[in-house]
Amino acid sequence: MTDLNQLELDLINAIGSAEGVQALEELRIAALGKAGSISGLLKGLGAMSPDERRVEGPRINGLRDRVAAALAARKGELEAAELDARLRSEHMDLTLPSRAARTGSVHPTLQVMDEMVALFADMGFSVAEGPDIEDDFHNFTALNFPPRHPAREMHDTFFLTPDPETGERKVLRTHTSPVQIRTMMSTTPPIRIIAPGRTFRKDSDATHTPMFHQVEGLVIDRDIHMGHLKWTLETFVARFFEVEGIDARFRPHHFPFTEPSAEMDIRCDRSGGVLKLNEGNSWMEILGCGMVHPNVLRTCGIDPDEYQGFAFGMGVDRLAMLKYGIPDLRPMFEADSRWLAHYGFSAFSAPSAAAGLS
Ligand code: PHE
Repeated sequence: MTDLNQLELDLINAIGSAEGVQALEELRIAALGKAGSISGLLKGLGAMSPDERRVEGPRINGLRDRVAAALAARKGELEAAELDARLRSEHMDLTLPSRAARTGSVHPTLQVMDEMVALFADMGFSVAEGPDIEDDFHNFTALNFPPRHPAREMHDTFFLTPDPETGERKVLRTHTSPVQIRTMMSTTPPIRIIAPGRTFRKDSDATHTPMFHQVEGLVIDRDIHMGHLKWTLETFVARFFEVEGIDARFRPHHFPFTEPSAEMDIRCDRSGGVLKLNEGNSWMEILGCGMVHPNVLRTCGIDPDEYQGFAFGMGVDRLAMLKYGIPDLRPMFEADSRWLAHYGFSAFSAPSAAAGLS
């Protein structure tokens, strides 16, 4: 007969010195598993006489219970030790100095676009968009540029390589006005949208970059006239520059897609190297505008006898320079982080018409 005392001694010793949860599990299977030593003893009870069983039963069951208890106790110890070790290895030293603060900031052009969106949203405008790569139809033809008209070249257009099959020549949009066309063709009046975006012209000097930004505006409704245009733009410009009122003049101009057309100038004083609004005798051009040409309305399926409208387009980078005293246009797009650290805005102060712009 197996020496139960010896077996118990061996098992308890092995359990006590098991070095890990896995080793302990192997011991458990060897003793209490299906083919385990203790399980074998328990099975043997069946073959015993009732008298033998009365004596051996409690001995074997007691052995099983003590071994099971020893296994559980050792398992608890091992798990606690493992947790301790993990906690020690995952320990984080909070006294270490943190990394230098990130200094990302919002580019003045984007800041100004956000300001414009906030101000026009307050006046009931929504934001529309169009692609940077346009077709000739949306950039020129639908905007009433006659075919082969010099105005197409006047825009210093970047043309893409023509499609070898159709011969179609796409362009980098020279203005945001094609968004007027896209909006009028896909919705019905009343329309009140602004379209902020990138525009491109083959132009590069101190006041021009080949890529620049515009915000387009379009209002189409019944009985719209130039008074609406004037009020909207003067109100916007005054709010944008955060002044009570703005001294502006509308100077006749020509755009193929508006009639009449005008450029809006604001009074400023440039003497002494600083720019002061509403003072002095200089005028600065800030945008082009006009009443939407009946041909444009017709092309877009809008009856000019029923609906009229006005449109405007302004250079965002220019207005950003004006508002935030940025002297040179070119560094705006050189991605120099020192420039951005100086002129950029906090990402946490989104402009809103009510809370203030900047
Ligand atoms: N698209 C014109 C430009 O780029 C500006 C403009 C827009 C003029 C809308 C009139 C109406 O110069």
